[in-house]
Amino acid sequence: MQDKQKKITVRYFRQKKENSEKILALTAYDAPTAKFAEECGIELILVGDSLGMALLGYKSTIPVTIEQSLHHCAAVARGAKFAFIVGDMPFMTYHPSAKTAMVNAARYIQEAGVDGVKLEGGKSIAGTVGKLVKAGVPVMGHIGLLPQSVLTQGGYRIAGKTKDDEQRLVADAKALEDAGAFCVVLECIPAELSARITESLKIPTIGIGAGPKCDGQVQVVNDILGLFTDFIPKHTKRYANLSEEIKKAFTAYANEVRSGKFPGGENSF
Ligand code: KIV
Repeated sequence: MQDKQKKITVRYFRQKKENSEKILALTAYDAPTAKFAEECGIELILVGDSLGMALLGYKSTIPVTIEQSLHHCAAVARGAKFAFIVGDMPFMTYHPSAKTAMVNAARYIQEAGVDGVKLEGGKSIAGTVGKLVKAGVPVMGHIGLLPQSVLTQGGYRIAGKTKDDEQRLVADAKALEDAGAFCVVLECIPAELSARITESLKIPTIGIGAGPKCDGQVQVVNDILGLFTDFIPKHTKRYANLSEEIKKAFTAYANEVRSGKFPGGENSF
């Protein structure tokens, strides 16, 4: 991370791209995780609407509300002092109109204390992105697989598999850059296409399932910690198996309470 005492700003990410240095991003939904992340060099913390699955027990991101998202954004903002924090605007909080997007984005900045917001979509929301940026809100774009479109797409699909789709994604990325987005997430896009998009843009690309050539990478924290146990998504890698560690600890605690071993004299007053 840059000088530990300095808060990261949007300019930092552009500089990293210019210097061909990778941008380190991760999701977090609470204060301690955010603090650990920045202590380990994570520069951008995304309070993703993956919150819905990671913490709230939903099957998709669709049910996540702005109040839930703001609540977790504020926790992350209290936990991280230096990382750039992005709040992920939930389903239907920016679609109805640019005005709705601006009113809601203001809540992320003013109430939750984050540094920017993320919106899913390319050309179709570039107008809204432009207005947000002109009003002073840093915007992270997000193209490729769009989890908030799961209902219309009928599932989660790799994007950019046809020539038309490829051209659309290249145009979407450019539209976001032209609108003033400070970076763009590329989710589940073939590596070769992501590399081309990355090369074509001045703003950084942050990949998840988009190959190694993106300017940075983002992962869902539950995936890399092994807290999501249903399966291991192809785009991720487990760096720990915390679900097993947690179960071991809970079992040991339950056994010791059952047997009377805990609390011992050292835990009593
Ligand atoms: O919600 C989220 O965590 C995201 C990432 C997958 C980029 O949007």
